Amino acid sequence: MLFICYKGVLNLSYNRVSEANKEVYLFQSSQTYQKVIGKEVKEHPLLEEGRLPNDVVACAGDGSNAMGAFYEFLNDENVKLFVIEAADKWIDTKQHVATMTLGKLGIIHGMMTKVLLDENNDISKVYSISAGLDYQGVGPEHAYLEEIKRVEYYAITDEEAVLAFDYLSKPEGIIPAIESAHAVSYAMKSAKTMNKDQILVINLSGRGDKDVRQIVEYRGLHLEG
Ligand SMILES: Cc1ncc(COP(=O)(O)O)c(C=O)c1O
Repeated sequence: MLFICYKGVLNLSYNRVSEANKEVYLFQSSQTYQKVIGKEVKEHPLLEEGRLPNDVVACAGDGSNAMGAFYEFLNDENVKLFVIEAADKWIDTKQHVATMTLGKLGIIHGMMTKVLLDENNDISKVYSISAGLDYQGVGPEHAYLEEIKRVEYYAITDEEAVLAFDYLSKPEGIIPAIESAHAVSYAMKSAKTMNKDQILVINLSGRGDKDVRQIVEYRGLHLEG
């Protein structure tokens, strides 16, 4: 069923879903669906403020929610685009999944893109507090967008992401996915450098109900049940 849907939407001629190219399909299909959000992100500030946002920030594992959010803005050079990855415990233990920030050009799942490689140039084992960011490659558009300097890439640690998770959940009642909390954390820092009339959009890629137990455990506490 999904296979037919990919064909219809993307008109791909090499459609054969297998383990080897699964990531390419996942990336392209979710990017297509996420693009709907990018359209809204563009229309809302235009309708309500008469201008585009200054910055759009999204987290990336494979990179699809970010591409969806960015797609409509790629030719709007005044809109700055930021991708935030998981630096996780990089500072203390060198464990991370910051593919764009710390990876090298390589091949993974049939894509030439940035990849995390170990000392033998094999695909690295990676760690992330957020299951959704836990991928050693990234959609190849990101490698390209970095090369042409259209998108900037940064990484956020576990601790910073957990603080951002709390920050948005408690006063606002919006529980972001721990993946999205990486973008929130970056936005919290960069908002401090912006003027009050500037518009910063954070793409919340998912909701964080699924992550509450993990955050509690990260804090060394325990949830009943
Ligand atoms: C909530 C959430 N956000 C972000 C991601 C990262 O994926 P991508 O970078 O492809 O958007 C995932 C992946 O599973 C996810 O579940």
